[in-house]
Amino acid sequence: MPTSTITSVPEARPPARVAESAARKARFWDRIAPKYAADPIADMAGYEATLRRVQGLLSADQDVLEIGCGTGSTALRLAPFTRRLRATDVSANMIAIAREKLAAQPAPQLSFDVADADTAVAGRGEYDAVLAFNLLHLVSDLDRALDHAAQALRPGGLLISKTACISEMNRLIPSLALPLMRAVGKAPHVLCFDAGVLQKAMARQGMDIVSVERHGTRGKDIRVFIVARKPG
Ligand SMILES: C[S@@+](CC[C@H](N)C(=O)[O-])C[C@H]1O[C@@H](n2cnc3c(N)ncnc32)[C@H](O)[C@@H]1O
Repeated sequence: MPTSTITSVPEARPPARVAESAARKARFWDRIAPKYAADPIADMAGYEATLRRVQGLLSADQDVLEIGCGTGSTALRLAPFTRRLRATDVSANMIAIAREKLAAQPAPQLSFDVADADTAVAGRGEYDAVLAFNLLHLVSDLDRALDHAAQALRPGGLLISKTACISEMNRLIPSLALPLMRAVGKAPHVLCFDAGVLQKAMARQGMDIVSVERHGTRGKDIRVFIVARKPG
């Protein structure tokens, strides 16, 4: 078991690896998958703004990988803007729901797979874009996950991410509320960093930061949208 709910990510060096099996990581998400699928999106205008922005970055001659795709709603929206979209998630239950949605709403470009973003989900240089929405604060090792994402990209490819920056929240949330919620199985393990630390982690993997944005429309938005390019 991980010993705490929160792992702080330091600015300049990789965090200690949290040895956690994919099965253990998936357990929380498998349990909440039906509720996650049923819950409405809290900030629909912000979500639509992100989708429009991402659609503008993709094109129909691109191969795209999504990591941490959840129940596939975003992949279903984005697949028509790609040549091929392979969407992956560590939770088999999330992927089962995503596949049901795909069966009901076929998209020839789209496929769903169970895969852990802390390990190499793809071979080297296979993709023009890697998408990571609401994921990077949930992986076990940020540097390792970013390394795998960067390796999956072709030279010039884009890492397109939207990530909750837990250390931008009221301090009581990471120090008190999240540990309590995790103790009763209501929250996953999270990494605690701000947008600056996340950008530095991407830069450590050789990525150039193209854009840093916030799309939220409902008060303070802790979820940073970052586009980073693999040089080449
Ligand atoms: C907050 S949900 C976001 C889902 C979707 N991207 C979205 O924006 O709605 C986080 C997702 O990341 C997945 N996840 C957590 N850790 C992961 C990992 N190490 N590798 C792949 N997926 C992971 C969970 O199973 C869950 O589906």
